[in-house]
This record gives sequence, structure tokens and C-alpha cells, in this order.
Amino acid sequence: MNFEFTEEQIMIRQSARDYAQRELIKDVLERDAKAEFPAHHVKALAELGFLGMLVDTKYDGGGMDTVSYVLAMEEISKIDSSVSVIMSVNNSLVCYGIEAFGTEAQKEKWLKPLARGEKIGAFLLSEPEAGSDATSQRTTAIDKGDHYLVNGVKNWITSGNSASTYVLIAQTHPEKGHKGINAFVVDRHSPGITLGPHEDKMGMRSSDTHSVMFTDVVVPKENRLGEDGFGFKFAMKTLEGGRIGIAAQAVGIAQGAFERALQYSKERKAFGTEIINHQSISFKLAEMHTRIEAARYFCLKSAWLKDQGKPYGTASAMAKYWAAETAMYVTTEAVQIHGGYGYVKEYHVERLMREAKLTQIYEGTSEIQLMIISRAIAND
Ligand code: CAA
Repeated sequence: MNFEFTEEQIMIRQSARDYAQRELIKDVLERDAKAEFPAHHVKALAELGFLGMLVDTKYDGGGMDTVSYVLAMEEISKIDSSVSVIMSVNNSLVCYGIEAFGTEAQKEKWLKPLARGEKIGAFLLSEPEAGSDATSQRTTAIDKGDHYLVNGVKNWITSGNSASTYVLIAQTHPEKGHKGINAFVVDRHSPGITLGPHEDKMGMRSSDTHSVMFTDVVVPKENRLGEDGFGFKFAMKTLEGGRIGIAAQAVGIAQGAFERALQYSKERKAFGTEIINHQSISFKLAEMHTRIEAARYFCLKSAWLKDQGKPYGTASAMAKYWAAETAMYVTTEAVQIHGGYGYVKEYHVERLMREAKLTQIYEGTSEIQLMIISRAIAND
């Protein structure tokens, strides 16, 4: 086994770290308070090649591997997960889905601008009554000959307003259950698409999350991704990779909180010494560090499996589960180590704790990851 990164992977990590520590940090508190979309940062990440980093160079992507993606996601997420979630959805869900399952014409038209970061994408699976239970799609895409007619509501859509390209999951043949579901690429500005208000979220407040309503939206036939009825498998395969991105995000959130807690404990004095000299604090830090390292290994392993072309669905569920739980644990402990200072915004750890909570919920809750892992064990 080789635990060393390549020079290229180290360079990509450094480039993400530099940008995050130099630029993202400047206005992260203000953007969190105002729930302001990070447009200039998204543009800058596009210029760095981070919005389509996994896409083949022939489709204008960065042609980078998943391990590099994990390293970059961790660095960005240490500072600001509102930005890294935009990057993750664009890379792992939208670009991946079109690249893996789209036709050459679809890749030419839709993938290239997304890979260049000129446009950003959103992934529309969740519905008011289809969150964890993703087969229960109520949004319909009825076959009208040369087009599909879409009606329904999607919920909790990351980049719902800022995205120009939607990857939409909808039911075409309700009588067939999940085998009747299709995936489509849809122009967000199509007539009949309207948005709910910007959701006032607990964390990752500056990414824009909306519900999206479809009223008699015409989607051309050529926009369907994959064969008729492939949509549920499309969503599941795409989410397998998405979970690697969110696991890396959770590792970054945890690492960001850990570094702040470590620094603070070396400066803050109580009972005549820096608090790191108290075992109650140093053991907490040791536990935090160990859990993060384990989460990072899970994450890198699932990325490596994907890069090797091996199955990675169970590994990414394990990575996402453990990393999200770790992020929640570590950020909570980081707040505790900071005491009263941890509870105010200036010290960042309360924001990281709010961000950590979302990693236990989206792209499949922790309970969904356990469901995936337990089924894999049972069928082994
Ligand atoms: N790859 C390929 N096929 C898969 C698959 C996978 N990983 N997982 C399931 N399938 C197939 C099954 O083989 C089955 O096909 P057949 O009938 O042909 O055998 C079919 O899909 C149905 O599978 P299940 O019976 O296992 O389906 P289920 O109803 O029990 O649900 C689930 C499975 C894993 C719980 C799924 O519903 C799920 O992942 N739910 C969570 C949804 C989710 O993650 N939502 C995230 C929203 S996106 C988001 O958050 C993005 C963002 O904005 C940040």
C-alpha cells in the first residue's frame, strides 16, 4: 500500500489551501450573517479549475483524480462549506452524471460550460415527500412524443437559483415504480420554472437553497439522460460519488474546528497554565484528531476505489457516515474547548458546528448510509 500523495495531488491541495486561507476567510463571517451567495468565489474557483476538476480534459474539465478532489474539498471546507457544497454538487452530481451517462451531444452542449465553471449545476432529486425515500417521486415527466411535460415540486435544491443547468429526476411511468423514473438535463430558465424563497438555513447559509416548481415545463426528448427508466439508477450511481465529496467536506469542517481548538488551547490560560496542559483538554484534542484521521482514510479509500474503477458505493457510504458523525463530534467539542468564546460568531467554531449538522442530513442522512452499509454486509 502506498499512503503518499503524488506531486500533482500535493500541488492541488496547496492551491485550494492558499485560496481558502487567503480569500475565503476574509468575508466568510459576513456572508454567513447575510446569507449572501459567494458569486466572486465561485468565479475564482472556476478559474482555478475546481468546478469541473473531475471531468475529462476533452470536455474542458481538469482531468484530475478523485483523491485530488477530496484533498481540495477538505481545504475549502476547512474555511467555508457554503462554497465547497457548490463545488461538490457541480463536480460530483451534475458533471459526473452527464459525463458518465450522457450522449456526446449532451456532453458537448451541457457538460463543457459546467466543466469550465461558466455555468453551475443543481441536482433535483428531493421532494416534499421524497427525501430519504427517493423512489417516491411525485414530479412527473410525461412523454408527449417529441418532448416531456414536467409538473411537480423539488425541495432543498442547492444552487437552486444560481444554477443555469438542472439535472432533474422525475417519474415518467408511475405504474412501474422506480423503474419508471427518468433523469433529464433541464435549462433552469425554461418557461414554467419558478422558485420558492431562499431557505433561511441554520448553516451553509450563503449557498442558495430553494424549492423549485415545474408547471407544464417542456423538456426536449434529447435531454433525457440514459435509457427510458434509468433515472433511479442514475441518481443512485451519481450519489455514490457525491457522498465522497460530502465526506471530504465533513473532514474539512472537522479539521478546521480542530485546528482552531488546538490553537486556542495553546493560548488560553486557566488555573495557572495553558489549557492544553490539562488532561481534560488534551485528551479531547487527541480523540478529535484520531477520529478525523480515521474519517480522512475512509474518504481517501473511497476516492481511490473510484479512481481504480472498483466498486465504491459501500465505501463512500461508510466514509460519509463516519466523516459526518466525526464533524458533529469534533465541532461540538471545539465549541466546548472554547467555552463562552465558542458560542459567539467571531471564533468560527459555532459556524462550523452548524455546517457539520448538514453533512449528517444531505446526500442521504447518516441513517441512510447505515442502511446502505447494513444491506451490503447482509448480502456479502
Ligand atoms: N447503484 C445502482 N443501482 C442501485 C443502487 C446503486 N448504488 N442503489 C439501489 N439501486 C437500485 C437497486 O438495485 C434496485 O434496482 P432493481 O429493482 O432493478 O433491483 C433499485 O435501485 C431500488 O433499490 P432499493 O430497493 O435498494 O431502493 P430503496 O427504496 O430501498 O432505497 C436508498 C435505496 C439507498 C435508501 C435510496 O432511496 C437513497 O439513497 N435515499 C437517499 C436519497 C438521497 O441521498 N438524497 C440526496 C438528495 S441530493 C442532495 O442532497 C444534493 C445536494 O443538494 C447537496
